[in-house]
Amino acid sequence: MTAIRRLADDREGRLCAELMSTSEPWLTIGRTFDESLKLVQHPEREVYVAFDGETFRGFIILVVNGALLGYLQIIAVTPDARGTGIGSDLLTFAEERLFSQFKNVFLCVSSFNPRARDLYERRGYQAIGEIPDYLIAGHSELLMRKTIGPMVTRSA
Ligand SMILES: CC(C)(COP(=O)(O)OP(=O)(O)OC[C@H]1O[C@@H](n2cnc3c(N)ncnc32)[C@H](O)[C@@H]1OP(=O)(O)O)[C@@H](O)C(=O)NCCC(=O)NCCS
Repeated sequence: MTAIRRLADDREGRLCAELMSTSEPWLTIGRTFDESLKLVQHPEREVYVAFDGETFRGFIILVVNGALLGYLQIIAVTPDARGTGIGSDLLTFAEERLFSQFKNVFLCVSSFNPRARDLYERRGYQAIGEIPDYLIAGHSELLMRKTIGPMVTRSA
């Protein structure tokens, strides 16, 4: 049974950074362990980890202030556990957290990551824009959005 909870300490942060820096799409993007650790340790981010008992299974990073809120910045599952539903559980967790405060969940998926894009589309995300040469030259990031309505509603 996978438990999802807030990142607890530096050891867990390093597990997240190790997973990110050794996985696609971040290998192609060239994100190092130190850069990944900086993202995980960013004081304004919310990081949640998935564990089966003592075994680390994956994590998400959420952005809850700034522009384009709420934003799912990173989602990753350990290679041996992929395809077993943990990513879907993390996505559900992210959506519940972000929709409790915002009307949208935004995320970006790299043009060379069609399997992740398929997952997001099945989960109700729509591609709303393409950002060419954003992280690395020759590839784009696709901005995707899932929504529960407009941010402002006024009665007639
Ligand atoms: C994308 C990811 C978080 C999904 O988590 P998961 O636990 O594997 O997903 P689930 O078991 O809940 O759902 C399976 C779906 O995830 C996607 N998926 C599975 N393995 C994947 C992989 N290695 N890379 C990208 N997407 C993958 C597929 O759409 C798959 O559906 P399919 O089996 O019908 O093709 C996970 O595979 C992963 O960490 N991939 C590498 C990092 C990544 O691509 N992160 C997303 C960046 S936008």
